[in-house]
Amino acid sequence: MCLFCVCVCVCVRACRVNTSELFKKWRNMQVCKWEQNKEETNNFTMSLSQCCNASSFLFTTKRNTPSGTKLRYEIGGSLVISPEIFKMFPDDMPYSRSEFKRCAVVGNGGININSTCGKEIDSADFVFRCNIPPVSDKYSADVGSKTNFVTINPSIIIKRFQKLEKWRRPFYEALQSYGNASIVLPAFYQRKYTDSNSFRAKYVVDDFRSPAGVFFFHPQYLLNMQLFWKLQGVHANRLSTGLMLVTAAMELCEEVHLYGFWAFPTNPAGVSITNHYYDDVKAKPGVHAMPHELLHFLHMHTRGILHIHTQPCS
Ligand SMILES: *[C@@H]1O[C@H](CO)[C@@H](O)[C@H](O)[C@H]1NC(C)=O
Ligand SMILES: *[C@@H]1O[C@H](CO)[C@@H](O)[C@H](O)[C@H]1NC(C)=O
Ligand SMILES: *[C@@H]1O[C@H](CO)[C@@H](O)[C@H](O)[C@H]1NC(C)=O
Ligand SMILES: *[C@@H]1O[C@H](CO)[C@@H](O)[C@H](O)[C@H]1NC(C)=O
Repeated sequence: MCLFCVCVCVCVRACRVNTSELFKKWRNMQVCKWEQNKEETNNFTMSLSQCCNASSFLFTTKRNTPSGTKLRYEIGGSLVISPEIFKMFPDDMPYSRSEFKRCAVVGNGGININSTCGKEIDSADFVFRCNIPPVSDKYSADVGSKTNFVTINPSIIIKRFQKLEKWRRPFYEALQSYGNASIVLPAFYQRKYTDSNSFRAKYVVDDFRSPAGVFFFHPQYLLNMQLFWKLQGVHANRLSTGLMLVTAAMELCEEVHLYGFWAFPTNPAGVSITNHYYDDVKAKPGVHAMPHELLHFLHMHTRGILHIHTQPCS
């Protein structure tokens, strides 16, 4: 019944997933009560802190990126940190290692629909979300509303907020649903997203005196993380935001729970689901390796390192 690992390990290597077989094993596994394996979890977290060290390097800070630093972009070139940019950084990382007991990382998958997991998510000590997703009453029964950490992809600022070149209030208002959560942007992914995108988000939040804090992912942290996953066999042009958040959560939280992560067009019972819980816009093909990332998560679930929720909460 609980011999799921064997299959997943093979699938991960062969990378050609027999989904009906996989779903069946996954469904059967749901009768096994998930329990954290402390030793496996500690080992995993230990190797993560050696590679990536989120509690010191997740964001660019005054401490880890002094003024004058030549900061290397994730892709192409580098940027000298001027005193003006330096001023935008927090003094230090706002979170320490294993600071939060139980964390929820909420992916945006259609698998969230009708999960009724909102209460369980909101009862977590810290809640991560990807790409400012809707958390209004219409959705909160399934995805909750509490948010402590939310990312914004540059493409959202470009498409939904016209690069913040015009009216800024819609952006400020969109952020209201997340209260004082940390708003996190990959400002140093590549040059074109720095000034005209991520920094503008910071200016808006400051100008409107939003209670939110704006932080920038440290590009070296993301590069180290990419290498970490590559060594584990996860290759992608760019890791998905979901994988980034799960990885950060593993260091910052004692126990990590995933909701809304499922990279297939049907749920484990074979019923069609939409791509996101709020729309059915398909991902750009070839950028991320979603099913591949998910298989790794499933494998980690079987080892008691994290808990993936794909069944409705009771
Ligand atoms: C954890 O790491 C220790 C030391 O590296 C090793 O002896 C042990 O077997 C590992 N445990 C697991 C469950 O991987
Ligand atoms: C993380 O970085 C900080 C600051 O450089 C350092 O003090 C700490 O020992 C590092 N942690 C690990 C596990 O390497
Ligand atoms: C969710 O539940 C509603 C009401 O029971 C139902 O109409 C709808 O089809 C369900 N959607 C999914 C994706 O299961
Ligand atoms: C953020 O808001 C929550 C809920 O509104 C509150 O409990 C918490 O103390 C606030 N945190 C900070 C750092 O202001």
